[in-house]
Amino acid sequence: MLSWDEFENDDGEEAAKGVTATQAAAAGIDKLDSAGGAAALEARAVTSTDSAAVIRAKAALDKLDIAEGLAELEGSAARVAVDEKRMINCRADLNQLVPFKYDWAWQKYLDGCANHWMPQEVNMTADIALWKDQDGLTDDERRIVMRNLGFFSTADSLVANNLALAVYRLITNPECRQYILRQAFEEAIHTHAYQYCIESLGMDEGEIFNMYHEIPSVAKKAAWGLSYTRAISDPEFNTGTVETDKELLRNLIAYYCVLEGIFFYCGFTQILSMGRRNKMTGVAEQFQYILRDESMHLNFGIDVINQIKIENPHLWDAEMKEEASQMILQGTQLEIEYARDTMPRGVLGMNAAMMEDYLKFIANRRLSQIGLKEEYPGTTNPFPWMSEIMDLKKEKNFFETRVIEYQTGGALSWD
Ligand SMILES: [Fe+2]
Ligand SMILES: [Fe+2]
Repeated sequence: MLSWDEFENDDGEEAAKGVTATQAAAAGIDKLDSAGGAAALEARAVTSTDSAAVIRAKAALDKLDIAEGLAELEGSAARVAVDEKRMINCRADLNQLVPFKYDWAWQKYLDGCANHWMPQEVNMTADIALWKDQDGLTDDERRIVMRNLGFFSTADSLVANNLALAVYRLITNPECRQYILRQAFEEAIHTHAYQYCIESLGMDEGEIFNMYHEIPSVAKKAAWGLSYTRAISDPEFNTGTVETDKELLRNLIAYYCVLEGIFFYCGFTQILSMGRRNKMTGVAEQFQYILRDESMHLNFGIDVINQIKIENPHLWDAEMKEEASQMILQGTQLEIEYARDTMPRGVLGMNAAMMEDYLKFIANRRLSQIGLKEEYPGTTNPFPWMSEIMDLKKEKNFFETRVIEYQTGGALSWD
């Protein structure tokens, strides 16, 4: 076991000689710097036991130029001041996480970590029995489970790819990038959760995972999202002009407001409604955790979009507003069509007309969250229980299943 006492004894010697703590620290660090530098160089000296390969490696490092290495990094090599930080097109060093400019982004990163969960924690036994029982579910209920696993099993990969291959590079702020990395891992967990459900229920994996090519209502949503990734995932693409900055903004609106903010909501509502009726409770519990993660992704995306608008007001002109509004309306329309396709008849106490109202209610929220006019006046929420589920804490979920608590850094023991 590590003992920190030994380290404390060494540090205490200077103070005992009557030198002030600050002076001692400054003098001590200077002394350490020169001693450390000499010791590091000494380690580079070739010794009689060095093989030819080790000698070649040491010689190669003699040519390493620190200034050249720094030039490779994004942004300047100076210490970062908070007012140099910008959401896009920032010139300050992006590897210096602090000082924070966007505290909300760091807080979301911490909240995301505090909500960590894994699909294997959820008990799927009751689902497996119900799914295999010929009379367990109606055809309409089976259709809902199949279609939603079909859509979601690939949708989260589209989101993850968009983050990792396009958005991450173009958002030039380290605290936001820290959250994006957390989000990307959560998308991997979501894809894992869908795979886990598909495997547990013994479904035809090829049929489910290829549904986004084969079923029109699923394929249209995927194709719509992908059309907004195309331009910005080109390695040659860069922001910095009005047109390219707008292209990135379009991508963020497409993914955060529409894909994660509208396209997930019909499926989440259907599966969670099933859980509320004590059917497919394991699948529903997985969806419940995913929904909670997704509502944080959505809120992060809204904050990023609004911050870009604040820092670059010239991008948010009449043309861009009209385009953003059209994107949200197109997404709502595609989700309404998906609701019709997945729910040709009333099922689980809901029907496509109610879902249409819900989606219009959600669309109004998305429009107003980014400062646009609501386009479906007078719409009310027919499923108020959905908002309650989004706010539930993991350990107090309505199925009251056991959930593993993850240790945080502060609680880790070195024993
Ligand atoms: Fe996700
Ligand atoms: Fe997400």
